[in-house]
Amino acid sequence: MLSNKQIAVVGAGHMGTALIGGMLRAKLTLPKNVTAARRNPEALASLKKQWGVNTTTDNKKAVSAADIIILAVKPQVSPQVLVEIAPLVKPAQLVVSLMAGITTKTISQKLGQPCPIVRAMPNTPCLVDAGATAIAAGAHAGEKDLALAERIFSSVGQVVILPETAMDAVTGLSGTGPVYIFMVIEAMIDGGVKMGIPRDVAAKLAAQTVLGAAKLVIETGRHPAILKDEVTTPGGTAINAIHMLETKGLRSVLIDAIVTATQRSQELSRLYGD
Ligand SMILES: NC(=O)c1ccc[n+]([C@@H]2O[C@H](COP(=O)([O-])OP(=O)(O)OC[C@H]3O[C@@H](n4cnc5c(N)ncnc54)[C@H](OP(=O)(O)O)[C@@H]3O)[C@@H](O)[C@H]2O)c1
Repeated sequence: MLSNKQIAVVGAGHMGTALIGGMLRAKLTLPKNVTAARRNPEALASLKKQWGVNTTTDNKKAVSAADIIILAVKPQVSPQVLVEIAPLVKPAQLVVSLMAGITTKTISQKLGQPCPIVRAMPNTPCLVDAGATAIAAGAHAGEKDLALAERIFSSVGQVVILPETAMDAVTGLSGTGPVYIFMVIEAMIDGGVKMGIPRDVAAKLAAQTVLGAAKLVIETGRHPAILKDEVTTPGGTAINAIHMLETKGLRSVLIDAIVTATQRSQELSRLYGD
């Protein structure tokens, strides 16, 4: 699908590199069709060595030959990068932005071109091909553009398509979500250690339990409440733990975390997005 398209990744850091690796492993494209741009030449050399892609410290050079431009610099850097590449961008190019909080309207204004823009909110499990990414079409992006972006992010995990207005909520749920689960895993490890399990063993058991529970939800397609009820024996360990978790407000606290992270994302979009 992407085989003949030239792809420029501007800001080939963690996320940009994860996408390059994902696309190449999935054979969506060939190394010769990918150009990675960032300022650090050593990092580019190691990217070239690992993936065989073209590299450059010159964003303009990367963008000028591209059919698809993936913007993966930090949001704070976006004004300068958008101004830098604007003279080279053409309406036929697809722009895919990962930059948190930067709207397609802002990108379009800064580029001064009516090119199709797809905004994406991925998360760090993309680094291990288990990402959760939401994508949204900007004003000039159509079904074909969304399909291309979906294919790109599918190479590093699951993809959903939502309206752009949902992006702050996605940031609060799945964009920031790995942090909540890291804390859950950390707490479960400590619980195991407190009850006498060696830390390394507790870490293995806790992480695998989270992975396994998530897999059960995804692969059975069953509601988590049903899966929970099925393993809750009358008078057993689970119902006692559930009672404690409800008393301490586990569910409310996670809902509140998503609400507050969403609100912070809205604030940051207002501060840096325009
Ligand atoms: N990490 C996440 O969980 C996550 C989740 C959702 C969205 N995102 C978004 O994904 C984007 C990338 O995040 P990340 O975690 O991959 O950050 P990152 O690792 O810091 O990558 C950004 C890269 O941009 C490069 N860069 C900085 N200034 C540049 C310039 N003027 N021209 C070209 N490249 C430049 C940096 O390399 P040099 O210093 O070598 O230039 C750096 O490697 C951000 O916009 C973020 O909002 C991240």
